[in-house]
Formats: sequence, structure tokens, C-alpha cells
Amino acid sequence: MYGNDFNVPDDAGESGSVSGGSGPAGGGPSRGPSHLLDEVAAAERALREAGAASVAGQDAGPGAEADEDELRRYFDAVIDADQKIEPRDWMPTGYRQSLIRQIAQHAHSEIIGMQPEGNWISRAPSLQRKAILLAKVQDEAGHGLYLYAAAETLGVSRDTLVELLLAGRQKYSSIFNYPTLTWADVGAIGWLVDGAAIVNQVPLCRCSYGPYARAMIRICKEESFHQRQGYEILHTLAHGTPEQKVMAQDAVDRWWYPSLAMFGPPDADSTHSQQSMTWRIKRFSNDELRQRFVDMCVQQASVLGLDLPDPDLRWNEQRQAYDYTQPDYDELMRVIKGDGPCNRQRAAHRRAAHAEGAWVREAAQAYAEKQAARMREVAA
Ligand SMILES: [Fe+2]
Ligand SMILES: [Fe+2]
Repeated sequence: MYGNDFNVPDDAGESGSVSGGSGPAGGGPSRGPSHLLDEVAAAERALREAGAASVAGQDAGPGAEADEDELRRYFDAVIDADQKIEPRDWMPTGYRQSLIRQIAQHAHSEIIGMQPEGNWISRAPSLQRKAILLAKVQDEAGHGLYLYAAAETLGVSRDTLVELLLAGRQKYSSIFNYPTLTWADVGAIGWLVDGAAIVNQVPLCRCSYGPYARAMIRICKEESFHQRQGYEILHTLAHGTPEQKVMAQDAVDRWWYPSLAMFGPPDADSTHSQQSMTWRIKRFSNDELRQRFVDMCVQQASVLGLDLPDPDLRWNEQRQAYDYTQPDYDELMRVIKGDGPCNRQRAAHRRAAHAEGAWVREAAQAYAEKQAARMREVAA
């Protein structure tokens, strides 16, 4: 989740997988955020070119009288040509449902993800830190809005999705159920959680569904800022007083394994991935993306002067990648199913915030109705 979509045991019918995308696979130790931003820029160019190209030698899609076989052939041709499916296009029900679930979970994660850091806005150590954190948390709200809007193009309303979240019937990323105990946690979230999100989400900029791909390009650019601000917070603490360095190390120790778990279960346990790969929603497996994240973090940790809490982390010359200890996937499943340290608190807070915002929604609705009535009067 949070750009990933994987099965939770007992959730019958839920499909699972990550996200799509091409670009250089892997990601050795020298690859970092700027390399990822290059991939976002390349995806943006590819998106524009795809819009201008014809599909499989056809200038237009099948006509209104086309039967389902014809529609399906055209859909497959668009996917095979690495072009975009748009809201007006025919798509298989499974493709639509998979996207709705993945985009909704992603949107919910952005919104719930405002809570752990929002908790520190009033306690940021300086006015400048407060302004930066405020901007970052507002960005997350914006990401939620882009994504709900992308989901709406698939024929589901934002109200419905929000109701499903509030009723606990749709999930959000497990990572936001962990507490933020110190200011250093804000740094660790930016560096590791937003960092993992970028690695997961950059390939989504090439997802086969146009509205999702377009939303992801903008989101990834902003996530890159988030990752850098977290890194800068940790760098400042790690080069501050001995107590500050201890605080930074403690935050990294606590956030490392939950961040690795954000990529979902190991490939061997990840069902439905293949279908998502075929549809080009997803292009890299959970384990490939996790490895890419580990390789990226090792070098950055050494610049920070902080240790990653894994005694078995070492470069594997043969694989040209770091060996590392896997996160506790039983814990991941427990947290996803509602039994993490802050699940209840996060859900209760979101429900209360939704109830408190009822008057805003009602006022906006009344205003829209008034405007529509005025327009009708003018037209009459
Ligand atoms: Fe975000
Ligand atoms: Fe972010």
C-alpha cells in the first residue's frame, strides 16, 4: 500500500501487488533521489509522447458498435504499446477494481499519513522547521486529493471511498500506525518512509492508467522534497550534540524495519502480482523494490554518520547488491489487520476530523446549489 497493493490474509477477493513502471531496473549503491527524479522526468516525457501516438496502427479506438472481443483486443493493444488507458476507454472489470482498490488505499495512506507528523507541527524546534513541516503535511493532503480524484475517474465517488476508510473496510499503509516519539522521528519518516514511498511510486509514473500516472508524476516530485527535508533534519541532529545524535540513531533504529515492510510481503507470498504486471500497473516485484531501497539507503546512512540497525547488512559482490535482514512480516500483517501500536488512535482521529468537517461539506454543497440555481436563472 501507499502505492502498493498486496493481499491481507482473510481478505478474500483482495488482489495484491505493487506498482508499475519501467526505467533502469535495480539500483546500485550509487543511485539516489536525483536518479529517481530523472526517472520521473523520463516518465513525464513518455506520457506526452504516448498521448500523441496511435495505438497498434489505429488512429481511433473501436467504434460504439464494437463487441467485447474487439474492445478487449484494443485494450490489450494499448497496454502492449505502453500507452495509456483513459477513463472513457473500455477496460476489464478486474483492471478497474484493482485500480480502484490500489488508488483508494494510496489516497487513504496520504490522508492518514498526515497524523504522525502533524503531531509535531506545534512542537517543531524552530519557526523555520514548523513552516517546512506544515508545508509537507499539506502536500500529503494534496496527494490524497489528487488520488481520490484519479479514483473518481473509475466511477467510484470520493464519499464512498471515505466511508469505506472510516468503516475500516479499506486499508491504508501499515507504516502510519507507528508512533512519532521524538522530533528525530520526523526526520526518520522523511528520509525512510518518504524515501520508500518514492522508490515504490516512481514506477507508478508509468502505470498504464493515465489519471493515476499523471497524479504520480506530480506526487513523486513533491515526495522528493519530503525525503530531502527528512534527511536534512537527521543530518543536523547527527552532527549536533551527542544527545541529538543518540536521538537520531534511535529514530532510525525504530523506523528501519517498518519502512522495509512498506514494500509488502516477499514475492513468494505476493499473490495477484502477475496480473498486475500483465496490466502494467506494476512492473517491479516487492523484493526488487525493497532491494533498491536498501541499496539507496546504505550510502546515505554513511553520509549521515548513522547506522542501519542490521548486523547482517553487507555488500554482495556476486549479486551487486546488499544482503540484508528481512522485516518481520508477521508483524506487518498484524498491523495491517488493525493491531499495530496506533491503529485505533489513527482511525478515531480520522473519524473525529471527518465529523468536525461536516459543516464545511454542507456549506460547500449549499454554495454549489446556489450557484447552479443562479446559472439556470441566467440561462432562462
Ligand atoms: Fe505523499
Ligand atoms: Fe510525502
